[in-house]
Amino acid sequence: MKKSILNSALFATLIVAGTAAPAAVNITVQTDQPGAVLNHGMWGIFFEDINLGADGGLYAELVKNRSFEFPEALMGWQVSGAANGVEIRDEKPFSTMQPHYVRLPAGASIANEGFRGIGVKAGEQYDFSVQARATGLPTLQIELVTDDGKVLASGNLKKFAADWQLQKLTLRPNATEAKARLKISATGNGALDLDMISLFPQKTWKNRPGGLRADMVQMLADLKPGFMRFPGGCIVEGHTLANRYQWKTTIGPVAERKLIMNRWNDEFKHRPTPDYYQSFGLGFYEYFQLCEDIGASPLPILNCGMACQFNSGELVPLDQLDPYIQDALDLIEFANGPATSGWGAVRAKLGHPQPFNLKMLGVGNEQWDQQYIDRYAKFHQVLKAKHPEIKLVSAAGPSPDDQHFKFAWPELRKLHADIVDEHCYANPLWFFENTHRYDNYDRNGPKVFFGEYAAQSDKVVSTNNQNNLECALAEAACMTGLEHNGDVVKMASYAPLFAHVEGWQWKPDLIWTDNLRSYGTPNYYVQKMFANNPGNVTVPVKVDAGGASTFFVSASRDYDSGETILKVVNAANTLVEANLDFTGGQNIASKVTAFTLAGNLQDENSFTDPKKIFPVESKLEISAPQFEYIFPPHSLTVLRLKITK
Ligand code: AHR
Repeated sequence: MKKSILNSALFATLIVAGTAAPAAVNITVQTDQPGAVLNHGMWGIFFEDINLGADGGLYAELVKNRSFEFPEALMGWQVSGAANGVEIRDEKPFSTMQPHYVRLPAGASIANEGFRGIGVKAGEQYDFSVQARATGLPTLQIELVTDDGKVLASGNLKKFAADWQLQKLTLRPNATEAKARLKISATGNGALDLDMISLFPQKTWKNRPGGLRADMVQMLADLKPGFMRFPGGCIVEGHTLANRYQWKTTIGPVAERKLIMNRWNDEFKHRPTPDYYQSFGLGFYEYFQLCEDIGASPLPILNCGMACQFNSGELVPLDQLDPYIQDALDLIEFANGPATSGWGAVRAKLGHPQPFNLKMLGVGNEQWDQQYIDRYAKFHQVLKAKHPEIKLVSAAGPSPDDQHFKFAWPELRKLHADIVDEHCYANPLWFFENTHRYDNYDRNGPKVFFGEYAAQSDKVVSTNNQNNLECALAEAACMTGLEHNGDVVKMASYAPLFAHVEGWQWKPDLIWTDNLRSYGTPNYYVQKMFANNPGNVTVPVKVDAGGASTFFVSASRDYDSGETILKVVNAANTLVEANLDFTGGQNIASKVTAFTLAGNLQDENSFTDPKKIFPVESKLEISAPQFEYIFPPHSLTVLRLKITK
């Protein structure tokens, strides 16, 4: 790897004006000298219910506030008809965990607005369900309607009992609509009590009833992520301990999963989202199942007895941490215990007798200072004694180089921490300048999880941040450094993952969605190119770029395919003609597969042009392990070729 210390202003000029792009570069890849062992699953994903990531996103439920548990109990619902008789009640509820329900007298209607509308597709089928009980002889009419009153689908339910019963019907919309509403009207005589009013597409991921949005999971599956971290992020911590994430309240029947406010609801005054709550329909069982589906190693993060230090910073006293540590022990049993164990039996009853093969567990999200170290130490002591097979992920605060970070590392080293989670939201220059960050890390200490990162075109939490190619290339450049240092950097994940175009709090994000569609950003395609082309071992690569500092390279070898993989970022504004020399093999396959991501620095993808920046695959015929290759301006290129001895 070429070393350089960049001058910010100079570098900005270089990548825009391209004046210092090397005329020709010599790259030597020493294929016969395998270096450090890489984690083949080092490129993973970070999932958090932020930006309508879960509710209103991955969790395919189309009804918002389905159980009337929002503090403003009719939020998301519009009442019409005999509005006076519509009441929120809680006597003899369907679920004591979600005690509220609506009473709908004959003549009244309620309509749900969904999450920024309800997205439905013509010709597809939607499962409506409701818990209902009746007095008198009412009929329930269910309709999907547009804003201007057009009926897209309708059906009736007529037979009700005096006690709670599940009622279902299927709706088939006659047109595609991104912003439909679900209208429910009582006619006849009497009244209906209604709870858990739900609408799901039948076409979910793997067609699971009550499951996940297929297009969004497909985007994740396409990444081929090595691991998935869940459920966050700051929602692990909560503003206060009362609204921290507690995994045990997220499993079992959905009506028994107690809803809480999502901490991103009111976190940002400039992006308030007052209708953002966590239903936990996507709970820990579903997270583990999702990991299994997409071949990602699960990495759950648990609260360590600390609420978010950006908010209340509330702490569990050290002598009262046991229930938190017990949650971790129980989670390990839930994931890995035999079906005969207490929590293993719970997992088996939920439908998964086989273990989920948990290997890693995070203790706290983005915590810092002595208060974290004290709490981590307690978790470490118990978990390492009882489960030495589980690698623990510890926190180093919110920044890659502030005083919290500098405090955390020596302390965690003393504790023999396994893996330290570093977070970095910084401008593109930081990423270009830090490609050698890990070159001098201690090889005998804890390993690194570069667990949250994203280049910010403006500044952290600015609404002006863009998912443009410049940021994506900055991340790619940095990722070459992570791979090159794969003996110490064992995992990395971009954050945040999803954002709804009308419901986001934080920008930039990897994948953008609306009610019907999703698209990948240039940053997504960078992640995809790395995660689809992982190596088992690093391969030394020497670059002679004539002093230019806009060229970033890493190389690895993949054992399954026997291929050498070269990843190259040309951040300059001009193409680079390179002489490639893959040493160490007499024979070389005659074909090289190339994946190229290139464009203008400010280019972004969008719903109107979702593949403006997209990796293009091509094949190249070569006759010897020495050949010329032209790297386009502003590009990431991945080359795969087979060298045999
Ligand atoms: O990714 C968004 C937030 O950034 C995460 O929730 C938190 O861990 C970090 O501060």
